[in-house]
Amino acid sequence: MADKNILIGVTGGIAAYKVVEVASRLKKSGANVKVIMTKHATEFITPKTFQEITNNAVSVDLFADAANFNVAHISLADFADLILIAPATANFLAKMAHGIADDLLTTTILAFDKKILLAPSMNTKMFENPATQANLNILKARGVQILEPASGNLACGTVGKGRLPEPAEICEEIEKIFAPKVLSGKKILVTAGGTVEAIDPVRYIGNRSSGRMGYEIAKSAVKNGAEVTLISGKAEIEPPNGLKHFVKVESALEMRNEVLKEFETADAVIMSAAVADYRVKTPAAQKIKKSSDNLTLELVKNPDILRELGTLKKNQVLVGFAAETQNVLDYANKKLVEKNLNFIVANDVTLEGAGFGVSTNIASIIWRDGSVENFSKMSKAELAEKIVQRLSKALNQ
Ligand code: CTP
Repeated sequence: MADKNILIGVTGGIAAYKVVEVASRLKKSGANVKVIMTKHATEFITPKTFQEITNNAVSVDLFADAANFNVAHISLADFADLILIAPATANFLAKMAHGIADDLLTTTILAFDKKILLAPSMNTKMFENPATQANLNILKARGVQILEPASGNLACGTVGKGRLPEPAEICEEIEKIFAPKVLSGKKILVTAGGTVEAIDPVRYIGNRSSGRMGYEIAKSAVKNGAEVTLISGKAEIEPPNGLKHFVKVESALEMRNEVLKEFETADAVIMSAAVADYRVKTPAAQKIKKSSDNLTLELVKNPDILRELGTLKKNQVLVGFAAETQNVLDYANKKLVEKNLNFIVANDVTLEGAGFGVSTNIASIIWRDGSVENFSKMSKAELAEKIVQRLSKALNQ
């Protein structure tokens, strides 16, 4: 981790002693390490210890240097490529989640806009308390990375979740953050959710897509360093953090327009959206009133966006999905070839734990050379990570 500037925030928990080893390991790996301690942290361990280990002055007090107090937090925030908070107490999490800045560490964090890794450590009940969990969720939603506490004997005499992970594990996580990302420098376009085809101003033809699979793919691509545009139809969830663009669309025609705008400059497109194959020929301008016993809607075919991309493609990698209810591999293989894709993710949506609305999926990836990878049931987040790894392979072929 040579040339990396790491700021460690130590808050007032018994696990503060373990963080001495974290600082030492980071220093040995070549990082420049500075430490801010909260006042309570100094009850557990002295600033002198960290000072000796890091070869840098340790800061505790926001007002220590009266002449400079208003720059200390800014300069420490500017210094750091990453802030690690370990151990992070429940009180600290609550303050951070709500933007309270009443000491040097909380103030520095407010002035910091890069990566933060939090390692909470506390009594199990405090960790599991809805207040703590709500605060962690707020922080996660803001893109703060949380290192889950380990389970084991706690200083308070109980056994449960709340231990600070071992120093080696914390350092490994930091190494991962700084490791070159597989999609770094790549522009990836992801579509997700279901299109909505108007019948009249009130009704529409939709489908069961929740958007989860595509949103997880976008999230994983962001995590792997890509510049991600997510074009989404109707979805049940919030878009992930860190997207370059988020474009909300309704119909297949709108989705096609937005996709075509981005296609030329994209390195890859993953079409996970459930695009309606047909739309109502002439949606009614006013709400259709109930009259005769039967109502016939005339539908016309929507453009097949992915097939069109397949004809336009130059160097772009194209990935499609095939959600099937029978003959999964045959149908998927046909789509792979006909739409000129690099690979296709196929799944049988009738299986339990796969398909629409659930958080897991059971999928296969089929490649152009005929090879097939069958995955067992896994979370959509895990499958997204696998798809992104395959995408990186295809981009490098
Ligand atoms: N797709 C698309 N435009 C459409 C329909 C589908 O871009 N109008 C994309 C989907 O996003 C998916 C792939 O094509 O990546 C396959 O979609 P799917 O609905 O499984 O297949 P279709 O080609 O529509 O064929 P069928 O509905 O007959 O199974």
